[in-house]
Amino acid sequence: MDSVLIAPSVLSADFADVRSGLDRINEAGVSWIHMDVMDGHFVPNISFGAKMVEDIRKRTDETLDVHLMISNPEQFVKQFADAGADYLTVHYEASVHLHRLIQSIRDCGVRPGVAIVPSTPVSLLQEILPEVDLVLVMTVNPGFGGQKLIPSTLGKVSALVELRRRHGWDFRISVDGGINTETASSARDAGVDVVVTGSAFFEAPDLHAFMQQITGVPHGKPGEPGSRQ
Ligand code: DX5
Ligand code: ZN
Repeated sequence: MDSVLIAPSVLSADFADVRSGLDRINEAGVSWIHMDVMDGHFVPNISFGAKMVEDIRKRTDETLDVHLMISNPEQFVKQFADAGADYLTVHYEASVHLHRLIQSIRDCGVRPGVAIVPSTPVSLLQEILPEVDLVLVMTVNPGFGGQKLIPSTLGKVSALVELRRRHGWDFRISVDGGINTETASSARDAGVDVVVTGSAFFEAPDLHAFMQQITGVPHGKPGEPGSRQ
């Protein structure tokens, strides 16, 4: 089984010094960058818009995993596609016409993802799972970095692994919120493919030790074998 991919969340970077955040992400050798877009309406916080995606797109070839925590995501699909998102994940709870929304993302040449908040059961995704490339299981209530993981949410990962196996679907499963050196092994054991980590990633005193503890596999220093995901 491949080791889990780590997707650092830019939300926890210093917005007045994004360059340093990108340097740390590059030093870590990760291949995904998680970008949390918040509108102050769907979630009680405001982060950044498509221009941040556009500007980071100019500075990296890594996978931009854009997480829209916004109302009316339908109105912004093209903007984020044009900005350079590789994955565009929308919330199940934000759209009545989710099937049409997921198709519109794919029609823009972007990989569609669906996210669920802690109170939303996997069963509600049954009809959309065949249409997505990513399922983002929120392991905290969305809106802020630095929160504690809600353990009961990890059961959703196992349920998604089983559904994927049974139906031969091929979406990736990601967890988002409260992932750190204490909680990562539980997420791996549940069968996750990607872990989003914000505060723990940017606060880790030893980045390479952190990467090793999160993935559970040796992580080399920059330029050494195993230094890139
Ligand atoms: C929360 C965001 C998460 C958050 C992760 O609404 O979706 O991506 O930034 O931050 P940590 O890892 O600090 O919980
Ligand atoms: Zn997120």
